[in-house]
Amino acid sequence: MADEVLSQFTQETESEEKKPERIYKVGIIGTGWIAESHISSYLKQPDVAVVAVADLIEGKAEKFMKKNAPELADKIHYYADHAALLAGEPDLDAVSVCTYNRTHAECTIAALEAGVNVLLEKPFCVTTEEAQAVIAAEKKSGKILSIGFQPRMDANMQMIKKIVESGELGEVYYIQTGGGRRRGIPNSTFIEQKTAGIGALGDIGCYSLDMVLNAIGYPKPLTVSGYISDFFGTNPKYNNPEDAARFNVDDYAAAFVRMDGTAPVAGGGKPAWLAETVILDFRIAWAMHLDTPGDSVILGKEGALRIPSTECWNGSVGGPMTLYKDVAGERIKIEIPIVKNKFKGGLFDEKIRSFLDAIGEGSSAPVPSAQILYNQAIIDHILKSAQAKAEVTVEL
Ligand SMILES: NC(=O)c1ccc[n+]([C@@H]2O[C@H](COP(=O)([O-])OP(=O)(O)OC[C@H]3O[C@@H](n4cnc5c(N)ncnc54)[C@H](O)[C@@H]3O)[C@@H](O)[C@H]2O)c1
Repeated sequence: MADEVLSQFTQETESEEKKPERIYKVGIIGTGWIAESHISSYLKQPDVAVVAVADLIEGKAEKFMKKNAPELADKIHYYADHAALLAGEPDLDAVSVCTYNRTHAECTIAALEAGVNVLLEKPFCVTTEEAQAVIAAEKKSGKILSIGFQPRMDANMQMIKKIVESGELGEVYYIQTGGGRRRGIPNSTFIEQKTAGIGALGDIGCYSLDMVLNAIGYPKPLTVSGYISDFFGTNPKYNNPEDAARFNVDDYAAAFVRMDGTAPVAGGGKPAWLAETVILDFRIAWAMHLDTPGDSVILGKEGALRIPSTECWNGSVGGPMTLYKDVAGERIKIEIPIVKNKFKGGLFDEKIRSFLDAIGEGSSAPVPSAQILYNQAIIDHILKSAQAKAEVTVEL
């Protein structure tokens, strides 16, 4: 009897250690800062071989490999740009596009046209038109395209969506979101039109938008009244003088967005948890004379959710959330405790794993482009509205 029990354990151990059924051949396009998290997560996967890397800057890809995967540095193939990598590696399964925003669309379209699945870093790209061109290439290719919003993997972020979809809030009609910091302007390629194209909006604004819009099912944006400024980035009093001289993107943005609750991205008409018109009140700051622009708030006809002022770009909510509801005629506040993630690694590992699993299973992308098109359209129309100094209509 004892032997039977023991042999069961032995069998389990053997099956856990079995070799992966397939090895994903992966390339990394762009070897800057974020590519370090991609390679680190790929190297932890038993079914991945990173075979090629590319960067426009001579010698950068080699340095990157020596620092992050010295054991592979002599075996891997190096390329001068995305096109050379895709041409030189005809049997790739997937690439991570880790370039600055300006080349997101170009690199992703080229990869999809080469029949390669793509994990594209956020933000989607720079303009709505670019996002639409990428989606057209994705549809034609039949490949998986996922956008790199790792906070999606966090259990607390998922809780926001669960609360909305449970109907506890009733029909959601208003959302206040955003975030920011007193001083926190990045440098390098993040602050110029020619590389980033968008500033705080593309760096951190897209996360705040995704936190709430994913929770409510990404209703279609209809109109945007937007404002941007660059008072801190361009001012040598508040920014490094050399950076201030080249700074030409937004460091602050605010917007009032009207969305159609009857047209969520998934189709199928108005979900029970959305009002016909949903309002988004948004602000984002790389720098300001304030530490936070406030909490995120989701107002519904039957309840409200307060999400403490959050640096959601770091992956989670800013603290326990509060649900406000009338219960038995009394106005009640319920604390939603912080939930610990169940997975062993970090959010970046989950982002990579979920992308690979989607390829393996032929399932839909963990963060689908059809959703992030709306995220990008809001950002793009904030810029368009700011330039026009008037409300603009979103045509999609
Ligand atoms: N998910 C996250 O948490 C997170 C965090 C930081 C940055 N990002 C995103 O990652 C992207 C890159 O950020 P970063 O800080 O690594 O920028 P970076 O400027 O440090 O690196 C980008 C690299 O891409 C290279 N590149 C550009 N076009 C290329 C092309 N066509 N072929 C090959 N290489 C090319 C550049 O030479 C550069 O070395 C940005 O879009 C940013 O928004 C995401």
